[in-house]
Amino acid sequence: MESIKVVIISEDTSIRVNLKKKLADRDIQIVGYADFKDESRLKIDGLFPDVVIVGVKVPIDPEVFSFVESMKFQSKGCAAVIATDDVTVDLVNYAARFGIRQVLSLDMKDNEFYSRVVQVNEYEKVIQAQLNIQKRVRSKVIAFFGCKGGTGKSVMATNLAVALSKRGSNVILLDMDLRFGDQNILLDLEPKDTIVELAQDPEGISIEKVNAFSIMHSSGVVLLAAPKSPEYAEYIKPDHVTKVIRSVRPYYEYVIVDLGSNFSDETIAALQECDEIMIVNNPDILSLKAAKSAISILEQLGIKEKARLVMNKNVNSLIRMKDFESMLEIPFYASISADKMFNGSVNKGEPFVLRTSRTVAAKEFSSFIQRVIADKGE
Ligand SMILES: Nc1ncnc2c1ncn2[C@@H]1O[C@H](COP(=O)(O)OP(=O)(O)OP(=O)(O)O)[C@@H](O)[C@H]1O
Ligand SMILES: [Mg+2]
Repeated sequence: MESIKVVIISEDTSIRVNLKKKLADRDIQIVGYADFKDESRLKIDGLFPDVVIVGVKVPIDPEVFSFVESMKFQSKGCAAVIATDDVTVDLVNYAARFGIRQVLSLDMKDNEFYSRVVQVNEYEKVIQAQLNIQKRVRSKVIAFFGCKGGTGKSVMATNLAVALSKRGSNVILLDMDLRFGDQNILLDLEPKDTIVELAQDPEGISIEKVNAFSIMHSSGVVLLAAPKSPEYAEYIKPDHVTKVIRSVRPYYEYVIVDLGSNFSDETIAALQECDEIMIVNNPDILSLKAAKSAISILEQLGIKEKARLVMNKNVNSLIRMKDFESMLEIPFYASISADKMFNGSVNKGEPFVLRTSRTVAAKEFSSFIQRVIADKGE
């Protein structure tokens, strides 16, 4: 039997030592230790534990519960357990609300503690089989593309990713606008590493490496950032792009790819890996011309059927959706009105879907999200 992979999350050294002792010399592998800091979340994800044991003393800080909840362990097939010094019925009931499967006493005998961990792992596997976890991790790769700059590709990609994550899905956002990518600004993040550092890693590209070189936003979205400066783009080859998308696909329910407005070999590699390509347009004649070029190239690549027509910054102009649809021969997918909340949220680095807004554009954007979810078939 394969050993159970355990991660211990605790900021208390004596608890870490106690738990290590309890689980020593058994078919349990402690794959790592972590604390409750934001940065730890990606690390824990990358360790792929079967069980996480949260070691804390009472009274338990409410942040501990929100941390466990935000990790969405259950949707990853991992059981969360609390090990503490004073187990009460109230605590067990309260913990269950955050998806915590068991509350164990730190004073429990080592053998009993061990068998409860084994039990909880087996129980989790049964639940996950019943929930048909395969269906949950079936992923959808959605690219935002267009041959014209400034149409709103990036801001749509950010807000879709954040909205899906807030709804409980595992989402990775890949900033593959290799020269001018700005997803870190849109999410107000300062990534230490980017796709460049990932591509240069001597061990090659894998899911663990992508996670290690990415950064997590407070919404739960994982961002693999674009190169920090345009000249670094040349380090990224089409093969890197293909490998990144293929390695994340089995682990994220949604892979959102933000592309630049060029047909470089790297962009083509990304488009070939995607399931759907949102061609983002604005209602003007230049945008129509750019969309026509984009579609004709997709046609030559034999992937035109992936294209979906999105009209952004719509103002009921003379060029109507229907005209676009018939001229481009691709299906209309969504229309979003022009709205100043877009600029406001861009300037603050705060995705607008995190705020309640009742504007027409906000409602249209939420219909767009609903359509993406419905198309994935959950
Ligand atoms: N529906 C909208 N209404 C008003 N402004 C919008 C709308 N959508 C996007 N914008 C604004 O348009 C600008 C460009 O957006 P964004 O950077 O997302 O475009 P892009 O297509 O990714 O550009 P690039 O081709 O340079 O990557 C931003 O300032 C954004 O706030
Ligand atoms: Mg952009």
